[in-house]
Amino acid sequence: MLVASNRGPVSYALDKETGELTARRGGGGLVSGLSAIGPDAGALWVCSALGDGDREAVRRGVGEDGVRMLDIDADVHADAYNGIANSVLWFVHHLLYQTPLEPVFDAEFRRQWVSYEAYNRAFAEALADEAAEGASVIVQDYHLTLVPGMLRELRPDLRIGHFSHTPWAPVDYFRMLPDDIAEQVLRGMLGADRLGFLTRRWADAFTACADALVGGLGSTRVGVHGLGADADFLRARSHQADVGERMAALRGQIGEGRKAIVRVDRTELSKNIVRGMLAYRQLLEDRPSWRERVVHVAFAYPSRQDLAVYRDYTAEVQRLADEINSQYGTPGWTPVVLHVKDDFARSLAAYRLADVALVNPIRDGMNLVAKEVPVVSDEGCVLVLSREAGAHEELGEDAITVNPYDVIATARALHEALTMPVDERAEHTKRLAAAATALPPAQWFLDQLHALEETPTTGP
Ligand code: F6P
Repeated sequence: MLVASNRGPVSYALDKETGELTARRGGGGLVSGLSAIGPDAGALWVCSALGDGDREAVRRGVGEDGVRMLDIDADVHADAYNGIANSVLWFVHHLLYQTPLEPVFDAEFRRQWVSYEAYNRAFAEALADEAAEGASVIVQDYHLTLVPGMLRELRPDLRIGHFSHTPWAPVDYFRMLPDDIAEQVLRGMLGADRLGFLTRRWADAFTACADALVGGLGSTRVGVHGLGADADFLRARSHQADVGERMAALRGQIGEGRKAIVRVDRTELSKNIVRGMLAYRQLLEDRPSWRERVVHVAFAYPSRQDLAVYRDYTAEVQRLADEINSQYGTPGWTPVVLHVKDDFARSLAAYRLADVALVNPIRDGMNLVAKEVPVVSDEGCVLVLSREAGAHEELGEDAITVNPYDVIATARALHEALTMPVDERAEHTKRLAAAATALPPAQWFLDQLHALEETPTTGP
């Protein structure tokens, strides 16, 4: 069995002075889900070298068992990852364009698309090379939409699956792509025997695109697997000493007796961190009684900083936090505590002490934070959840639902969350934790694999 994804389970940082390589776990839902397969499963995980550290690791032959990192030319990777995957396909699936001025599909786009094809071909060839006769291969995400079709041509004997960790765009939005590119993406995906999505909504959106643009799914099956949180791991990890230390530090920053509205995200355009802060400011404005009694703890970890729009967004998050603090802060109260350095133990600490978790993405494949918080919460936590997060399909009943664009309604939802009676909040948290852990990562992966193995192949 083989897995293919752009980001692998580890990435390496190179110390330019000492030449030392240090390994770090990759971030995001994909790595969280797939890490459950572990090195003992006999699987091979094919991923791309992402930076200089990774490339150096490949050259030195450093690596983990069961992982093959592809040393794809850095410029080709940059065009494919930054240019196409993250600036076009990600934007299409998350509805992120400011359409009066973008997207513009020009000669530069076409040049980058050739790199995207080359990068997909490198994966298809590596998989074709590594896979045993009749093996199952599960390709991950929008970075690798062309791989199933390419691999099918190279190795008709394989069972090929593809899983999307993102939403899928509605037909009208998807059709912004040039016609030939839209068709190539769909036909590439339909090279798979089976396509997996995180929710029924994204699966239906894909099917609608296939119906509208390429005459339907053909023999490809579509299934839904809602990745859940890993309760055992999270509960054990969140009770280690380093998390306790960070809780004490955070409590110091928040102040005794104050409530905490927590959010933890990559600094990602779709996560809607700015409107979250605007809603918090609206709360302080509309209900002055909350001033000095609540703190917005926002963790916004760096992501995709090669893209100017992400750097600008990161700066805007920081600017707005500063603005709110100077507008409302008092000597003993910092209204927004913003941390931008990725620290998993500190995230768990914030999960444990949160009174309210704010998860308000514009659009999100699933959102694992919404699932993780209720699992580790010490005393119950109210979840304010965007109806546009995939997780809403499973958690909506026990959350306070918000329209992510409506900051006034979000401010109201925050007030409602902050005033929920403790027993009610504990009851909701219990049900949220049960729903959130219904399909833990290992089972999520095995379900996909079994479903793929039971799918009649489209090969000869
Ligand atoms: O889990 C969803 C996802 O988009 C993955 O596809 C991706 O690997 C992850 O989030 C993080 O993004 P990136 O790999 O670009 O840092």
